[in-house]
This record gives sequence, C-alpha cells and structure tokens, in this order.
Amino acid sequence: MTPDLEKVLIPSEDIQLKVRELGAEVTRDYAGERPLLVCILRGGVVFLGDLMRAVDLPCEIDFMDISSYGAGTSSSGVVRILKDLEEDITGRHVLIVEDIVDTGLTLSYLTRALLARKPASLEVCSLLTKPSRRKVEINVKYLGFEVPDEFVVGYGLDYAGAYRNLPDIGVLKPEVIGGGAQA
Ligand code: PRP
Repeated sequence: MTPDLEKVLIPSEDIQLKVRELGAEVTRDYAGERPLLVCILRGGVVFLGDLMRAVDLPCEIDFMDISSYGAGTSSSGVVRILKDLEEDITGRHVLIVEDIVDTGLTLSYLTRALLARKPASLEVCSLLTKPSRRKVEINVKYLGFEVPDEFVVGYGLDYAGAYRNLPDIGVLKPEVIGGGAQA
C-alpha cells in the first residue's frame, strides 16, 4: 500500500469478486446479444479491462472521453465530448462502463446524448457510487459498491492523474489532497 493512503476501503480481492458477479449478471441479461461496452475515459479503463473478461458473450468495446467545464475538481454538470465513439450505436445494446457516479451530472448528460442516437437499449454499469453527493437521479442497473463521501483513489480513480494503478480502492491522507473534492 502506498504511504499516501490513509486506509484501504475496498481491497483488490473484493473488487475482483464483485467484478465477476457483475460480469455474470451482464452475461445472463444480454444472452443472445452482442453488447457494446462503452468505457468512459479515463477512470473506467481498469474496470472495463476486468469486466469485459468476466462477460462470457461476444461483445465489443468503444471509448468516450468527456470533460466537465468548471473550476476545481468538482463536477460542474457542463460536459464536453473530447473523444466520441467510433461505433454507430443505432440499434445496438449499449452498456456504459464507469468507475464512479458522484453527482450524476456526467451520466445524466451522457445518457441523454446517447439515447438521441437511438440504441436498442442503454444501461449503466458503475463500480462505485457516492449517493450522498447525488444531484440528479441516475438509474445504475449494475452497481459494485457504495462509498462514503471521501476522496477515493485506485483501480482507475485518480488524484491529479496519479494512483489509477493501485489494485485496491482507498482513501488518501488529507495532507496529500489538501482539501480537494472528488471528480
Ligand atoms: C469522474 C468519473 C465520472 C465522473 C463522475 O471522471 O469517472 O466520469 O467523474 O462525476 P459526476 O457523477 O459528479 O458527474 P473525471 O472527471 O474525474 O475524469 P477521469 O475519469 O478521466 O479521471
């Protein structure tokens, strides 16, 4: 464990177990289909890598990169597409793969934008949720863990670009983040 962590919140073994459960659910629900897993860069990339290998179906992957305008590290709700999908999702079964739903503003924008492209279905799979921070309701069909309102890093989640490669999810020491907010 890096000395910058105050504590481990979700150890790697628990994450891996949960990812396998989620993969089994997706496999069951999309049986006979060829879902498109849409990873939201960059935080979702570690989760996608594990989740897709727990899905026992032919599936495809694609990526979107979005950025919220606004100062600081908090989501503002105004979202800009930096990199769009390569695939046409019209008539496809699309599953958005996210690392964390915080205020919900990113996914609220994104689901509206993707629904306008007329997919056959659109669902969300998020490893983490921070319900205490929610500003808009989001229907997360596949959910890993609820986390408290603390700054969490690891397994894709960063602080100032670092810590995404930690296998566990943990909370940084306050002196490391200096009062910054998540996302
Ligand atoms: C995080 C996370 C979600 C978003 C959630 O991304 O991956 O996309 O914030 O926040 P919200 O529910 O309040 O909208 P971030 O902007 O930190 O980018 P990153 O994934 O590249 O680290």
